[in-house]
Amino acid sequence: MAEAAANLPGHIAITMDGNGRWAAARGVPRAAGHKAGLKPVRMCIEECTHLGVGALTLFAFSSENWGRPPEEVGSLMSLFLEALDSEVAELHEKGVRLRFVGARGSLPVRLQARIAAAEERTAGNRGLALQVAVSYGGRWDIVQAAQALARECASGALRPEEITEAAFAARLSLAQLPDPDLHIRTGGEHRISNFLLWQLAYAELYFTERLWPEFTAADLAAALRFFASRERRFGQRPAAASA
Ligand code: IPE
Ligand code: IPE
Ligand code: MG
Repeated sequence: MAEAAANLPGHIAITMDGNGRWAAARGVPRAAGHKAGLKPVRMCIEECTHLGVGALTLFAFSSENWGRPPEEVGSLMSLFLEALDSEVAELHEKGVRLRFVGARGSLPVRLQARIAAAEERTAGNRGLALQVAVSYGGRWDIVQAAQALARECASGALRPEEITEAAFAARLSLAQLPDPDLHIRTGGEHRISNFLLWQLAYAELYFTERLWPEFTAADLAAALRFFASRERRFGQRPAAASA
């Protein structure tokens, strides 16, 4: 039991990619692909809660995704609204603490209000820490942390030599959480696409061809087996082979 837990990631980050290709393959609108992506989201929350994974961070909409055609952006914003309405009560019941990370000021005002309400409602929960990255970019995150530090220096609250890695990390979006141990990307692309640039420094990277709407519990289990098989060295020498 203790051994299995030791090999379980404490924090999983997922780039949920492939919705558009899934829709195209079925001849349905891209929006239908995004909508179909809700099922694997529920599954991952369920599995992480069941397994005792402490934190799950889902990449739902990137800084760059604003550059997609307005009808696709609009359908995604509507989907986020609908998903908040349909899911939050159950998440709350499961003890999930829900937070959104990203440039939320650029989101529709109605969505901002629903996000704030959902965060407030679940803030006291001690189960799975669920982060949804919306209008999020790793570069945005680093820049907003730098701005926060600069403001503190300008006001005299902080001296430049007090800007350490820890001080920087404390101003990033996921400051309260350990860095992700495992990053999963579906949809076959082997890239980070401006997700958690700072926080993924030592994550194990798992890529699968599976398109997000088709990602199942068995696929998640395969990613967890991959993770359990890795020797994490963090730049140190390998652990001595046991006799
Ligand atoms: C991921 O699926 C969801 C978002 C980026 C919002 P895509 O929409 O990128 O799907 P593909 O990569 O085009 O198949
Ligand atoms: C990354 O997927 C962003 C999300 C899944 C939210 P993209 O589809 O936007 O990334 P690229 O364009 O393939 O790099
Ligand atoms: Mg994509």
